[in-house]
Amino acid sequence: MSRKFFVGGNWKMNGDKKSLGELIDTLNGAKVDPNVEVVCGAPSIYLDFVRSKLDRKFGVAAQNCYKVPKGAFTGEISPAMIKDCGLEWVILGHSERRHVFGESDELIGQKTAHALENGLGVIACIGEKLDEREGGITEKVVFEQTKVIADNVKDWSKVVLAYEPVWAIGTGKTASPQQAQEVHEKLRGWLKTNVSEAVANSVRIIYGGSVTSGTCKELASQKDVDGFLVGGASLKPEFVAIINAKA
Ligand code: G3P
Repeated sequence: MSRKFFVGGNWKMNGDKKSLGELIDTLNGAKVDPNVEVVCGAPSIYLDFVRSKLDRKFGVAAQNCYKVPKGAFTGEISPAMIKDCGLEWVILGHSERRHVFGESDELIGQKTAHALENGLGVIACIGEKLDEREGGITEKVVFEQTKVIADNVKDWSKVVLAYEPVWAIGTGKTASPQQAQEVHEKLRGWLKTNVSEAVANSVRIIYGGSVTSGTCKELASQKDVDGFLVGGASLKPEFVAIINAKA
């Protein structure tokens, strides 16, 4: 089963109309591998702006959403609103939502179910903290996170699983290709055991955490690394080189 390579950009809370407009011009003018699915995660306030300017060969994702269609939830956005802006994806469970804003596994699971029910694709993020890796419980942590997501998924064709070790995010300490492959292989094994062999073979498991144009090629060569979720480097022209990592 061949899995289409997937490269997501997570712009986080960065940019303005000028700088994002320049980034969009760079992406629109770039020669990108047509065999790669590219999705850019923009700040909520700029989602409509980005969708209106970015070539439609690129997907656009919200970086978060709530778990109901509408209501008294000041500051939140819903999957319905994301779809209303012509977007196709949402990033959920990012470590910053978990560890900065205190989102629980349960809430992330509920958001995942609601986003999928409303026709969005979900980039579902998991990953261990440094103390959890150093304590030898990486597998336990990522399996628990994956189970909560899996319990809320009916259609896996709309899910991309992003393994983002927290200790590699924004630190410049990229996981080694061997470290990434080891966890990705274990996650695929978990899916085979707990969901199905077909799902395990078809779901894209992507890596995030200090991916750069210098680290992407060896990471991309790993059997169970199906792409990336890129933060800082996705805001730079080098994002094109990361998209073309397998070209
Ligand atoms: O979601 C991707 C992000 O967390 C990775 O950030 O800057 O380490 O590539 P960065």
